[in-house]
Amino acid sequence: MDILVTGGAGFIGSNFVHYLVNTTDAHVTVLDALTYAGNRESLAGIPGNRLTFVHGTITDAEVVNRLVEGADAVVHFAAESHNDNSLANPRPFVDTNLIGTYTLLEAVRRTDTRYHHISTDEVYGDLDLDDPSRFSEATPYNPSSPYSATKAGSDLLVRAWIRSFEVRGTISNCSNNYGPYQHIEKFIPRQITNILAGLRPKLYGAGANVRDWIHTEDHSSAVWTILTTGRIGETYLIGADGEMSNRDVLTTILTLMGQEPDAFDHVTDRPGHDLRYAIDSTKLRTELGWTPEYRDFPAGLAATIDWYRANEVWWRAAKAATEAFYASRGQ
Ligand code: NAD
Ligand code: TYD
Repeated sequence: MDILVTGGAGFIGSNFVHYLVNTTDAHVTVLDALTYAGNRESLAGIPGNRLTFVHGTITDAEVVNRLVEGADAVVHFAAESHNDNSLANPRPFVDTNLIGTYTLLEAVRRTDTRYHHISTDEVYGDLDLDDPSRFSEATPYNPSSPYSATKAGSDLLVRAWIRSFEVRGTISNCSNNYGPYQHIEKFIPRQITNILAGLRPKLYGAGANVRDWIHTEDHSSAVWTILTTGRIGETYLIGADGEMSNRDVLTTILTLMGQEPDAFDHVTDRPGHDLRYAIDSTKLRTELGWTPEYRDFPAGLAATIDWYRANEVWWRAAKAATEAFYASRGQ
């Protein structure tokens, strides 16, 4: 089986490639534009007979068509993925998340290739902090930021190509991931690398906002489950019951790293900041029998901290530019 993985040099894509190489016989072709968020080193150590790396963009129909023709399945991770960047400059989000997905859909339509679309729970907007409900596959779309709006648009393109052109597609919407190889612009690795670099962690606003954390390895196993056993045309929500406020996540990191729990700065809040995300993954669990394995969040965080400590060469070069961007926004 030859699987084309777009965005395979990014955080979740590279973890999925390692998962495929470690747990299946599949040959993987990665198509990645190596934007600021892509890192070839995230795929280091994978034997050449298991991985072909192609440097290119998913908006290039010629390269996309050629690679899709040689693939048995496509798993589409490539995206502009950071909300704060989408607030500063939305254009790349429209190009990659919408035009890129369109380009892939036309290729899989023409070749009748199995397609799995990776998306986010942020397409549903947010929940109130005191609302006991969670997102399900029936929740209406209501995205807040240019990032989540372009992801929502890409999901709707996939649904239309499934319905109108009989594309053999599935969609998954997952909650916030953590683990190794995550770009240090994101919340958890930003705080870990701040502490390692002697900087104070930065919390947006009061830090009451809630995210529903899942280890990236559990995201990978869920995507593989859907790709191999999911029903064509269906959407599956992926989550591991990991709700926690940003403030609690940060104090856990500080404690695990031997710091005082209040050794952080409150900084300017994100405009339009979503309050709470929470996933009900009953459909995936009951229909396809998937369960998460990483249930101990502090233990997963401790392992993630160890990874950033041991892999400073992987993240150090990006630190100054990342912090300069945030400083320009008062964050
Ligand atoms: P990331 O920013 O770490 O990686 C994105 C990758 O896509 C990078 O390697 C980048 O070089 C590549 N890329 C960007 N534009 C491209 C283009 N035009 N052509 C080819 N490659 C391109 O993102 P991530 O956090 O790994 O997210 C991966 C996917 O998972 C995205 O679709 C995102 O919406 C989704 N998702 C992320 C989370 C999360 O917590 N990070 C949660 C749910 C869903
Ligand atoms: P992030 O990792 O950007 O993911 P998302 O916006 O997709 O949820 O942010 C996670 C949460 O952490 C979000 O509520 C914003 C907050 N946050 C901070 O408090 N400080 C930071 O430095 C960053 C980057 C995020």
